Amino acid sequence: MTHPQPDQAQILAARALAEFWADMGLEEGRVLSARLLARRGGSAARTPAHTPERAPASGTLAQRSTPTMPSGPRPEPRKLGGNPIAEARRLAGAAASLTELRAAVEAFNGCDLKKASKNTVVCDGAFDAPVMIVGEAPGGEEDAQGLPFVGRAGKLLDRMLGTIGLSREDSVYITNLIYWRPPGNRDPSPAEMQICAPFLMRQIELKKPKLLLTVGKFATHAMLGRADGIMRLRGRKLSYAQDGMAAVPCVPLLHPAYLLRNPADKAKAWDDLRVIAKLCDELGIRRGPGL
Ligand code: URA
Repeated sequence: MTHPQPDQAQILAARALAEFWADMGLEEGRVLSARLLARRGGSAARTPAHTPERAPASGTLAQRSTPTMPSGPRPEPRKLGGNPIAEARRLAGAAASLTELRAAVEAFNGCDLKKASKNTVVCDGAFDAPVMIVGEAPGGEEDAQGLPFVGRAGKLLDRMLGTIGLSREDSVYITNLIYWRPPGNRDPSPAEMQICAPFLMRQIELKKPKLLLTVGKFATHAMLGRADGIMRLRGRKLSYAQDGMAAVPCVPLLHPAYLLRNPADKAKAWDDLRVIAKLCDELGIRRGPGL
């Protein structure tokens, strides 16, 4: 039996997969990707069947974010000579495009994190991309460069996406729950998430993504209003609901920073990526060659 020759993009996808496994010292990753590459030319890896599910809660991200955040005392958003959430809503609502919205976030001074940050980190990727990724918050490298997911975790995320033919060059748009780095990379507070939520919701409204991917437990909990652990939610086809727009399919992913610390769980992430690849195909989302 003869196999079609892989083209350059397929070789890049295979390389991304091999690198994805390489942190674990898994030379088999190279063997596996070479095999998949040889097999490619029609049939992608088989994916387990997943039943669409709806998030139980409806209402807005801003309303949902509070009760689903980790328990403990919940600080009220600081009053800033006005109400920062109301101001964020006003600015977000006035933005008629993603470019205007990005400028509005950059001009917003209602979140204290901004004071200690070098940059406001709003988004990266193609504005018309069908896939929208929501992460947690910028880290040190993101703060330095003013772009989301550009540090070690971001590079792993790019490789993960590359294995299934998605990239921020054309198919993926990336943002975070919050736009400034929490000091010492601490968890974002509920108040910080609430203050930034109107900007995230407006991004979703303006972008109208065909598919949402939440990265890590914070983004997953805030977006989906579910308190289940990320290990229960990852790789499942769920649904994001926001007033005034149709529900958007949403798949939670393990955070790449977690995967860097726990490389053995990359096998789970790989299963999740195959779910996403299959869902992209079902939704008519064009992907480059991938596995
Ligand atoms: N982790 C995130 O959740 N977002 C980033 O932008 C970088 C790291």
